[in-house]
Amino acid sequence: IYKLYENENLSDNELLKLLDEIDIFSFTDKNRDLLFELSRKKRSIYYKDDVYMRGLIEFTNYCTNNCDYCGLRNKNINVDRYRLSKEQIIDCCKEGYKLGYRTFVLQGGEDNHFSDDVLVDLIISIKKLFSDVAITLSIGEKSKKSYQKYKNAGADRFLLRHETANKEIYENIHPNMSFENRINCLKTLKELGYQVGAGFMVGLPNQTNSVLVEDLRFLKDLDPEMIGIGPFIPHEDTPLGKFKGGSVEQTLILLAIIRLLLPQVLLPSTTAMGTLDKLGREKALKAGANVVMPNLSPTNVREKYEIYKDKICTGDEAAHCRGCIERRINSAGFKVNMSKGDYFSWDNIN
Ligand code: 5AD
Ligand code: SF4
Ligand code: FES
Repeated sequence: IYKLYENENLSDNELLKLLDEIDIFSFTDKNRDLLFELSRKKRSIYYKDDVYMRGLIEFTNYCTNNCDYCGLRNKNINVDRYRLSKEQIIDCCKEGYKLGYRTFVLQGGEDNHFSDDVLVDLIISIKKLFSDVAITLSIGEKSKKSYQKYKNAGADRFLLRHETANKEIYENIHPNMSFENRINCLKTLKELGYQVGAGFMVGLPNQTNSVLVEDLRFLKDLDPEMIGIGPFIPHEDTPLGKFKGGSVEQTLILLAIIRLLLPQVLLPSTTAMGTLDKLGREKALKAGANVVMPNLSPTNVREKYEIYKDKICTGDEAAHCRGCIERRINSAGFKVNMSKGDYFSWDNIN
């Protein structure tokens, strides 16, 4: 663990040994304590105790894909599908801007209704209204041409989790999708100058520690600006509904290792963590996460964006995320930072 802290890297074998030997459920495990302590120390070198805020707008829950884990998969007929209009999306941004948000994350299923022209118009309109915000897209796999168009329109960042770095597992749970295309999309996005987010789910079926090492190695090599990881939570209306999900504890270990491997990365404390454990997001911040993405979607559509069961921030409490999350961040010993929050060395590179 000290070596990981010093070198910001380990060999695959050393990573595997670390994962195998750490007792993820023991709160008295010395290695576990040390890992969290060093991860917190590393995080503070670049980001102090700041937590960056991103306003999440889930603008469509239509999806042409059929990912085996996801409640929004095309074949799930129990979903009440919705699309937000341009006006509704802009209203979310206005609301968010008033609350202080300077990053908007436009997230949706792969929905052809939002053509390139529609998206470009939307991005231009948001950028015209708010010149000092960053726009992050999270809309799945597209062609290089499309990614270029959104970039030209003013999109700054793109989230596309790789989901798992193991080709076999990937293609098993993604009918009609190819692992190569996923990876190529990520490389294209980097080439085009986006700040890129990759990431994976923890606790997928057949995910051994050596598969997790593949994920860590993939991330270290890709060197993305953002990494989203969270526990897999089975959804009953999906093919993986009966499988066991991932744990908060194992995700915390992986968050800490990622912070040590890629010290400057923007690492969200995800909603899935808060769903499995009331204090899951606070624990993630303490393990090395430094981003939170509260929901800005209109409250009447939030429960329809059900990628997994019992997702938080969808019920009566939904209107108060901004205040709720700030209290939680402070109680965990951190400070809200409402700035655009670009990647640490971004300004120096460009
Ligand atoms: N449990 C946890 N995470 C999920 N995602 C999709 N379905 C689930 C699930 N059942 C994650 C995927 C996707 C992100 C938007 O949500 O990693 O990239
Ligand atoms: Fe669609 Fe994304 Fe769900 Fe896959 S994970 S089915 S692409 S919304
Ligand atoms: Fe959404 Fe607490 S952060 S209700």
